[in-house]
Amino acid sequence: MPESSAPFVPEDADLDELRAAAADCEGCPLFRDATQTVFGEGPPSARVVLLGEQPGDQEDRQGRPFVGPAGQLLLRACEEAGIDRDEAYVTNAVKHFKFVTRERSGKRRIHKPPTLRELTACRPWLVSELHLVKPELIITLGATAGKALYGSGFRVTEVRGTVLDAPDEFEAGGVVATIHPSAVLRADERREEAYAGLVSDLRVAAEALG
Ligand code: URA
Repeated sequence: MPESSAPFVPEDADLDELRAAAADCEGCPLFRDATQTVFGEGPPSARVVLLGEQPGDQEDRQGRPFVGPAGQLLLRACEEAGIDRDEAYVTNAVKHFKFVTRERSGKRRIHKPPTLRELTACRPWLVSELHLVKPELIITLGATAGKALYGSGFRVTEVRGTVLDAPDEFEAGGVVATIHPSAVLRADERREEAYAGLVSDLRVAAEALG
């Protein structure tokens, strides 16, 4: 049997019931090392979904998506672009933090990107969330979020900042892809340019929302 969260996803559940069930998900091995499941949050009636990759260190500790440094940057970029983060449903393609521990750097937990297999295992949660929210627009943040919707051939650089059709399964009016806010944080001397690009893509999303 392939790894999958499907057996853990209750039928006909609302978002609160899904979140409660996701807390016990053992659909792939990532639950073993993570502190907790980090499920999506926001109004069920949200017009826009912000879709990230997976929780980071802070999110894993606090149990909420995008509360760490990347989340702070995303909040600022959304404000600048005219998207209210509090009115968005915010979630991740993978609901557990994947990391390696570096003994040399004081046991720091270093983020590790999820594999396609882990993305696929977690997909039933995302499909269920989107089925309930039915957003007008999904904003994918980074390559992994894009791959969660479009598969492994997705290239964020090729399609960013345009309005794409959403795959039927995800029940959204459209998709705008952009880079992950962590990529801005990692951009060092080109950080301003990377940030401006993120805001510009988010403005495309804000305009599409009208
Ligand atoms: N990065 C993500 O992709 N999601 C989070 O929730 C935090 C950091």
